[in-house]
Order: sequence, then C-alpha cells, then structure tokens
Amino acid sequence: MNEWKFSVNGYDPACTALDGNRFLCANGYMGLRGTVEEADKGQFPAVTLAGVYDRFEDKWREPVNAPHGLSIRLSLDGQPLDAGRAAPLKHTMEIDYRTGTISRETDFGAALVRSRRFASMAFCHLLADRYEVLFSADGEMALSVGISTDVWDINGPHLFDYSFERGDTLSVSAVTGEKRIPVAVAQRAVTDFEGEVSFVQDEGGVFRVIRRAVRAGERLTVCVFAGVYTGLDGGRPLENARQLCQSAAQIGYEACLYAHRAAWEAIWQRSEVSVSGNEEAARALHASQYHLNSIAPRHADNMSIPARGLSGQTYKGAVFWDTEMFFFPMFVYTQPEVARSLLRYRIDTLPGALEKAAEYGYRGAFYAWESQEGGREGCTNFNVVDVFTHRPVRTYFRDKQIHISGDIAYALYAYWEITGDRFLLEEGGARVILECARFYLSRASCRLDREEIDFADVIGPDEYHERVTNNAYTNGIILNCMENALALEDIFKDRPEWFTRLIKETHFEKDWLLLSEAKNKIRRPRKRNGVTEQFDGYFDLEDCSLDTVRGRLRDPREYWGGDHGVAGCTQVIKQADVIALAALFPDSFTDGEIAANWDYYEPRTEHGSSLSACMYALTACRTGKLDQAWELFMRTASIDILGGGKEWAGEIYIGGTHPASNGGAWMIAALGFAGLSMKNGEISLDPHLPKQLSRLSFPLTARGTRWIVTVTHEGASVRQADERCRAGSAIREE
Ligand code: BGC
Repeated sequence: MNEWKFSVNGYDPACTALDGNRFLCANGYMGLRGTVEEADKGQFPAVTLAGVYDRFEDKWREPVNAPHGLSIRLSLDGQPLDAGRAAPLKHTMEIDYRTGTISRETDFGAALVRSRRFASMAFCHLLADRYEVLFSADGEMALSVGISTDVWDINGPHLFDYSFERGDTLSVSAVTGEKRIPVAVAQRAVTDFEGEVSFVQDEGGVFRVIRRAVRAGERLTVCVFAGVYTGLDGGRPLENARQLCQSAAQIGYEACLYAHRAAWEAIWQRSEVSVSGNEEAARALHASQYHLNSIAPRHADNMSIPARGLSGQTYKGAVFWDTEMFFFPMFVYTQPEVARSLLRYRIDTLPGALEKAAEYGYRGAFYAWESQEGGREGCTNFNVVDVFTHRPVRTYFRDKQIHISGDIAYALYAYWEITGDRFLLEEGGARVILECARFYLSRASCRLDREEIDFADVIGPDEYHERVTNNAYTNGIILNCMENALALEDIFKDRPEWFTRLIKETHFEKDWLLLSEAKNKIRRPRKRNGVTEQFDGYFDLEDCSLDTVRGRLRDPREYWGGDHGVAGCTQVIKQADVIALAALFPDSFTDGEIAANWDYYEPRTEHGSSLSACMYALTACRTGKLDQAWELFMRTASIDILGGGKEWAGEIYIGGTHPASNGGAWMIAALGFAGLSMKNGEISLDPHLPKQLSRLSFPLTARGTRWIVTVTHEGASVRQADERCRAGSAIREE
C-alpha cells in the first residue's frame, strides 16, 4: 500500500457522490469535486467557491458553484466515451495526497484516457488538467473542451445573466441572483495536435470542439487551464480570469504543476504527522491532513472554513463550532497564520453576533450557529424536514445552542496560549471574549445574586435532547469563557491603561464586577458514581440500548432528535457531550471519572456525527483504553477514504467531506497518542502510543519556535527543529 495514494477501480454510479468527495481537489479558494471530466449534473460536478453565498427564491442560502472550467467530452465515430454511460473496460481514479493531484485512467476499448488535474495551491484562482488520449482504433474524433454551466446545485440556480466568449480563450461570466456578485471563468486549452475547430454554445456552457481523424496508436494531449474569479476578489473578474489562464498556458502545465507541488511540499513540511508500524493508519492520516490542509483559506486573512469544507453546498457552506473545536487545533500548532485567519473571521463578524444576541433580548455576543458571510446566521428555525409528513420540523439549533460563543472564546484564548501572539487579542480578540462572557451573564436563567446560576433551555453538543437545563458541556464552556475574560486582565497587566480603556469603551465595568462571582456560581452538574449527568434529569430518562432506539425507527432517514425523535426521551445521545467536556478540560476530571463517564456514555452514544469519535478517542488515550482509542482513531481518520458517514438528516442531504474528523485525526495523533499540551508556555507530552504503531513524529510551531515531537514505545521527545531534522523528517523525495 502506498501511504500517500488512494485509488478506486471501476466506475460505480452508486458511488458518484462519495467519489466526488474522495477525489476532491481544493485550495482554500475553491473546491473541485472529484468527478470525471465528462460528468453531467447527475454526477454532482461542482466548483464550490469559498465565501460566496446566494439565495434563490425562498430556499436556503448556500455557497455558489462556479461554472466548471475543466469540462471535457470525447467521442469517437459519434459514440460518446463517457465513463458514466459507456461501461468502460477499466476505470481508475487516484488521489495523491502529497502532491494534491487527482489522476484518472479509463480504458474505453477504442481509446484510453489518462488525466491529472489539480486546484493550484500556488495560484488559488487556477485549475489545471492534462488530458491524454491513446487511440487503439481508427476513427473520427470529436473532443469538446470547455466551460460547463451544467453544474450541481442543491438550492439553486444561483447564476444569472450569462455571457459567453469564444476564441482561443473561452469565458463564461454571470452574476449571482441575490447580491449580483460577478463570477467569471476563463479557459485556455493547449493541444499537441491540430484539428478542425468549431464552437458550441448553449445553456450547457461554451465549448471548443476539435475534430480530426485519428489512427490506432495515436496519442493526443490537451492541457487545460481555467481561471476563476469573483467580484469579491477585487479588480475585474473576467479580465483577471482571462489573464490567469493565458499566463498559465504560456508557462505550461509542468511549470504550473511544479509550483503547485512545491506549495504542497511546504505545507507537509510544516504539518505532516508521520507514523510507522501501520500503513493503513499512515495513509488515513495523510488523507485527513490533505483534506483539512486543502481547504485552509491561505489566500485571505479573515476567512473561516465551512463544516463540509469545499466539497459542495451541504450544510449551507456555513461555519459551525467545528472550526474552533476540530479544525483549529491542527492549524494553531502547525500553521498559526491559518488559525489566525479563522479567528479573525470571528472578530470581524462580532457585529453579527451582537445583533443576534439583541434579537433574542440578550446583551453581548451570541454567534451564529451556522455562520455565513459577515457572520450572517444561516440556520433556520426549521432545519430538518420530517420524512413522513415532508414538513419542516421546528429545531432549536439556532436559538439554543449557546455554547458556540464559548467555543470561540476558548479558541481565542488557546491561540494566545499556544502562539504567545497577543496581537490578535489586542486587535479585537479580547473584545470578543468579553462580549461572549457578557452574553452568558445576560443569558443566565436566574438572577445573578442567587446562590447557584442555571442555564436553562439550551442544547448541548448532543442535539437529540433539546431545550434542557444545565447541560454539562454548555455550563463548562461558559465557566471557561468567564475565566478567559477574567484572565485578560493578567495578560494585559503590562498595559493596564489599554485594558481599562477597553473595559470602558465596551461598557463592561458593571459586568466586570459581576464576572468572578458569577463564574463561581454556575451550577456544577450532578454526579452519580463519578458519572456527570449530561443535563438536569438526564438520568431519569428511559435507559435503553442503542439497538432498541434504532429498532424504533420507521425510516432509516428519520431524524432521531426533537419532540418526536426516537432518541429524545431516552438516554441515547447523538455525539460526545460530557466526554467532549472531559476531552477539552482533562484537568477538571480525575482519570477515574473520565473512565466512569466513558464507560457510561460510550454505549449510549450513536456517534451520529463525525465530531464524536475523536472526543471519545482522546479520552480513551487518557485512561489507557488504547484498543478503543485505536479503533476510534481509525474510524475518524478513514472517514473520507471509506465513506459511510451519515448522508441524510431527515430529508436534508448532509454528505460531503468531514473536516471535523480530518482535524480530529490530527488531534488524536498529537493530543491523544503523543499527549501534547501547552502548559504555561511549555510544551508537555503525555504519550499513549497504541501497540499498532511503533513510532509517531510530527512538527509543530509554538511560541514562534519550530519543534519536532517523536514518540516511540521507549519514550517521547521534543526537540527544536534545526535545518537538518526539518529536511529529514518531513521532506521525502519521490
Ligand atoms: C452536529 C453538529 C455539527 C454539525 C456540522 C451536526 O450533525 O451535530 O455538532 O456542528 O453537524 O458538522
């Protein structure tokens, strides 16, 4: 097995959606789904643009898919050679995680097609493909190379007022419906053969069609370059797209590929977790890190990452708590500039969070549960559609999942602790933490002068139990948020005037006085035999097995939560909740308590979210349950290779890549197996290496210094990365 590559043989139409995710190539600016070049809409081709949203009629707002600039169709003697329709003799798709390239080889009998494509990590607006055909029969070939507008949309259409250009450079430009944002794609093709060229332009896009007679044994190659720009990039999108594809065509495919590979190499140098002893694990880790690294917004300094990355429009392209709790850890330890961008997005969207709090009658910052551009709340009050009645179901994620604000404050504080960079706090981060703490003060369910303060009517990470009181995770993150707010005074002790001014400018004086008392009064959850009760009254719910609850489903797509859901009245939970708390704040639990909670909650957890297994794995490491940790690690790390994640919530499609699991794989390896943490500015390791691995090693950057962590069964070490070890551990020659 090659640790860096994954391939699928054979064309299975049932796997089109899954393969589109597995073979996704992305570069933070856009994500090109892993469909074959000739795919039509039924195969879900898409070039999903980061941060460009649109609403069509009264449907959900979602990210916009650009016209597909690497669309190629081939026919011989009038017969389309289409992997989806022509039943090829052989078909292989392969992804090379190291170089971020997708290859395809399809044997149609009369012709063999080979291609290699990428979304450039060096020039984020560029897509490129090298497409080669080797003929084994004589005939009349027609090769259409163009820009397809026949792309997948869940709640579209989103592009209107198309205009097309033909010639050496093809282009499509359009505007989005809601905000009239221009979107432009231009394409240039370079062939090593001649032919008769004509153009086709219709509602399916614009194509140049090259016709010629071919002979058996002849090999023809076309290199295709597409530039993609939108009105949000500044400048003139169409001009820029044209210029980019023309320059790329001049430089040539190999040079573009070289720059792309060099950019990926630099990313791997800074982030690769390498393991010995188990090739499957090594590959799964590479897959996870590839998928997470490929969607980092390196082109911007205040962008975040949607829950399904750039694999399509699922989950409305919105940013959830997934970012701070699951994506952020890998970035803050390996590429702090990316972590900074994720947090700056939250700083810049504070006005939206203040507005949302005010909308519900609270003070401070209540962040969007599903955050779109500008912090706009994408979550509706009816976020699930019932499979029986086909009616939207009232859900409470938007208004009751208040832990989101504390999650953001947690990450802001962690950023400061790990990087030592106070600038982000000065530039708005401190204000965000204060406003989140203020939100919780005003959201408390009883007067602050009571002996204990409750937080009622909330939803914790386990979304199946709605509107509960004193959810352990929520109360824990609120406590942490208040502590972080109070810690700011110490962080800025050398700038007391600046800090006093901040408190004054934000009118925080009164809240400041309440904070330390309030934090001590937050209701601590009830415990039974060391097990923390997930929320008030949880232990009184029906205690039945997961199988019993599953057996009550009348439809496999049925939603388990809410008023009528099968899990709501039972102790069966969707995902890690108390265990997530234990994973984040291990010092608040003894090892015995973690073990007791694990043993209680794990059998009651559906793991119905890809966010769950990672938290269980982290806590399993801590308590020495290494066999369980290993199984959960492999499940987490393999998710975008094997597929199998949930694809439906009620009638809503939720498939795509799983960046939270991708980040979770890094977390298990680094924070679990190596036991990495930062304590008072010092790196600390508490290794728990499973027997399946003989060695684990990874680079990290902390407080401005690069380090290499190595763990074996003999012990663990962290040493400063000098030039030699940098070259030795992460860069390998192909
Ligand atoms: C999970 C949430 C998560 C969201 C996006 C839901 O299924 O329950 O915790 O934020 O998916 O990944």
